[in-house]
Amino acid sequence: MCGIAGYTGYQEATSILLAALKKLEYRGYDSAGIAVLSAAPDFSGANIEVRKTKGPLSALEAALENNAPAGKLGIGHTRWATHGEPSDINSHPHTDVSGSIAVVHNGIIENYAHLKSFLRERGVVFRSETDTEVIAHLIDHYYQNDKHPRSDPLLRATLQAISKLEGSYALGVIARDFPDRLIAVRKDSPLIVGLGKNENFIASDAPALLAYTRDVYFLRDNEIAVLYNDHVDMYNNSGEKILRESQHIDWDVESAEKAGFAHFMLKEIHEQPKALRDTLNPRLGGGINTAANVQIHFDELDLPALSAQAKRIVITACGTAYHAGVVGKYAFEHFARLPVETDIASEYRYRDPLFDKNDLFIIISQSGETADTLAALRLAKEHGAKVIAITNAVGSTISREADTVLYTRAGPEIAVASTKAFTTQLMCLYLLALELGRLRGVLGPERYAEGIAGLQKIPENAAKILEHKEAVQRYAARQFNKKKVFFLGRLFDYAVSMESALKLKEISYTHSESFAAGELKHGPIALVDKDTLVVTFATQETLFSKITSNVREVLSRGAASLIVMQEPDGGSTTFLEAAKTIADEIWTIPRTAAPFTPLLTVIYMQLFAYYCSVSRGNDPDKPRNLAKSVTVE
Ligand code: AGP
Repeated sequence: MCGIAGYTGYQEATSILLAALKKLEYRGYDSAGIAVLSAAPDFSGANIEVRKTKGPLSALEAALENNAPAGKLGIGHTRWATHGEPSDINSHPHTDVSGSIAVVHNGIIENYAHLKSFLRERGVVFRSETDTEVIAHLIDHYYQNDKHPRSDPLLRATLQAISKLEGSYALGVIARDFPDRLIAVRKDSPLIVGLGKNENFIASDAPALLAYTRDVYFLRDNEIAVLYNDHVDMYNNSGEKILRESQHIDWDVESAEKAGFAHFMLKEIHEQPKALRDTLNPRLGGGINTAANVQIHFDELDLPALSAQAKRIVITACGTAYHAGVVGKYAFEHFARLPVETDIASEYRYRDPLFDKNDLFIIISQSGETADTLAALRLAKEHGAKVIAITNAVGSTISREADTVLYTRAGPEIAVASTKAFTTQLMCLYLLALELGRLRGVLGPERYAEGIAGLQKIPENAAKILEHKEAVQRYAARQFNKKKVFFLGRLFDYAVSMESALKLKEISYTHSESFAAGELKHGPIALVDKDTLVVTFATQETLFSKITSNVREVLSRGAASLIVMQEPDGGSTTFLEAAKTIADEIWTIPRTAAPFTPLLTVIYMQLFAYYCSVSRGNDPDKPRNLAKSVTVE
């Protein structure tokens, strides 16, 4: 994920920015840059110099050797590409046309295409492919057109610009005409102001600040800070001054990197509401507040043509990404009424699969580097298939070799166990399924709007699941020593049971398996005994009685039973009462259309796997024998 650093004070900004950016490297990035404002002590002769390079900070440091900009005010950035490949030009900071305003940005500007047209019509020539560049031009646009130049024009122009932005953003802004200040803005993307003596700082995460200060303002959404050397003014987004109490951070550097969470995995589980929103909202056009007029768009694809031509979808991937593909299979069948074949990439590459020029071929990979998935992609391309990749890593090998890339917006995952990458892959697949359903004429306007409204509720409902983490932790503390854990479900619930079993085995080293619930009686039930925990997903109420009879079969063999189900519908508690008779623990999700339940039920299971792993004394971030990116066969 991108990292922001900023400095105003009495020291050379370049060295402070580089040191702060180094402390943000753990967040993951593909390029880095700084902008430093140099001026005489009386602020005359101000000038902004920008240096930025693709690659690690060491590449930027090499570029700065004998060429470092001098100055005591600056902003810096490590970029994790979202719009446009990793390159020197796409790296931050970005400036307006004249180079007099420089901006660094974390987050996603959802309406950047619209803003780009607005600015192009006014003669702006864009240099990069990023969404961020529009912000620098927009601030300049309002600055140039300000009719009240005496009332803090940089702040006014910034406020006007952000009032036009949709999406998430943490910003650092400096301007040649205002060499005494640095502006910081936060909406849905973290930003911290560090308070020093005759110097002040900004950073997207505490580790970047701890060498300089532990007194901070954690900016809240829609707050703006204007930093001078000797003080910081705080404003709301109407430009009114506000008062904030500073906080003292007493975390050590290691826990600061994890934002206070014990592990990256737990942090990443908690990032899901935001990651889901970031993946969903930029795909919705026509006003995101009322589902009725909203339309899904995939600007990267000629979906109407693909939909007219597609007779079948083929999905291949590995591990967790494969499980996303299984959910995708059910979703495409359900919403778009298209036949779907899903296969594990390591199997697919050695099969003798049938290809048809009308196949829609989808590859899913968080890292974009998985060797088997890449081989499946190459095989498909050799046979003339057009390949769509769903990935989280801009510039990865898979993103370069696929014909079209649909990016998830999860931000980098550091823990080996995939969590937010999985749920954002699902979000992308659901959007594609709904849009294909509409284009193929099998989803009428009502069901289409219902589908979108259902997805729009997911981020807030994901946050509600996280509120139950103590209950999950308590249950894990009772069950973590079980010899076997079996996960049961049907259809969408079966797909989640596969992912849950993988999550539990990879980080807790517990023998866990998933079964299609109806298959239990065909063999696996022989394994069930009192050392077994059976987790049953029962979110599809039309199948409730079928699945509960499967649970009864395991109870009579002495197994412990956990049921994950929908919360009661209004006053009707029939299903809940029935579940209580066959479960020693029940976890409910906010009511959600059956196809979308995996987005919520899986969060319970990520937490369960995490707490079992910790209870067993494992390191959930670095499970034994596993790597984050499997680039070998
Ligand atoms: C999931 O928790 C695992 N780390 C693993 O199964 C992973 O999903 C698989 O290796 C595929 O990786 P990819 O998404 O980067 O292709």
